Amino acid sequence: MAKNIPMNNFVRRYRANKRAIDRAVGGVLQSGWFVMGPELAKFERAFARYLGAKHVLGVHSGTDALYLALRALDVGLGDEVITVAHTATPTASAIRLAGATPVFVDIDEKTFNIDPKLIERAITKRTKVILPVHLYGYPADMGEIMRIAKKHKLFVLEDCAQAAGATWRGRKVGTFGHINAFSFYPTKNLGTFGDGGAVATDDPKLSERVRWIRQYGETERYKNKVEGINSRLEELQASVLNWGLPKLAGWNKKRAAIAKRYLQGLRGLPSVLPYAGGGGGTHVWHLFVVRTKRRDALKEFLAKKGVATGIHYPIPIHLQEAYRFLGYKKGDLPVTERVVGEILSLPIFPEMTREEQEKVIREIKGFFGGST
Ligand SMILES: Cc1ncc(COP(=O)(O)O)c(C=O)c1O
Repeated sequence: MAKNIPMNNFVRRYRANKRAIDRAVGGVLQSGWFVMGPELAKFERAFARYLGAKHVLGVHSGTDALYLALRALDVGLGDEVITVAHTATPTASAIRLAGATPVFVDIDEKTFNIDPKLIERAITKRTKVILPVHLYGYPADMGEIMRIAKKHKLFVLEDCAQAAGATWRGRKVGTFGHINAFSFYPTKNLGTFGDGGAVATDDPKLSERVRWIRQYGETERYKNKVEGINSRLEELQASVLNWGLPKLAGWNKKRAAIAKRYLQGLRGLPSVLPYAGGGGGTHVWHLFVVRTKRRDALKEFLAKKGVATGIHYPIPIHLQEAYRFLGYKKGDLPVTERVVGEILSLPIFPEMTREEQEKVIREIKGFFGGST
């Protein structure tokens, strides 16, 4: 019998690949080169090739990737960035770090992503960027978003933190926007054993600005034409990513197989509405989210049965205390506010066993009194 089932298990990943990972990490330690070295250069080339992007720059985190992308676009004080409140807080904190103001629009109830129908009415004279988030691993409607951006002469910055490898109409996310951000936080589809992120763009000027700003703003050694920070992807992390990138497609396939099993196993249950994607995208199942009015009871029940679950995310950003000053109130984003009380993320990670998957399905069926 499967015992406690976690949301992720990085020890399993390490143990199954110990030799290769030790070799990668040990190679960096042996080389004595820890920052801005050959592992980073190799990863940037490989990830650019993987995406089909001209330039990739490794940075410290997904949050920094968003911040640096905004800085590259010269977004700052007084500018507005259209995004969603149903996302991880860093989507908004990066906008604030750049000095700009997030403008939240509601989501499409089918995809949980930004509702393109609501974007145009949020555009003002101050709007500079549309920032869609490919939440849970399913792409936002990039066709519509790019059309609106072009019409209003706005930049697009994709938040691909949860969607490495996902495609929209056959093209990888992270190649639609003018500049785009990835996270390699351990739980992500391409995760490292620590923090990491990347910016992808086809525009050499934007790429150059990120290169400067990620390293103190240095345009040449000890010479600054722009203000910068320190946000570099370390060699140790880059070496893990160089090991992991060739495995990403296989990991995403495993996630899809688990999702398929969940979708089949949970079909027909009264209150569970497993979100299946659809439309023009391929889903990489960063998270598998079910929806039920009895969410809190289900969460508690599963915890008692040893099944970990998560809520992504329980409080939308526009109702977070830290962002009260933006002036939003309850009722402003009705779909977002409705779904956050009903969503529950089930365990889904490539190393999850068949037995574990079946136990999750069995326990959920048990909760709803379904035929088991
Ligand atoms: C949608 C989204 N954007 C941004 C981030 C920030 O990434 P990081 O944790 O690498 O800073 C995350 C991850 O937490 C995320 O899920």
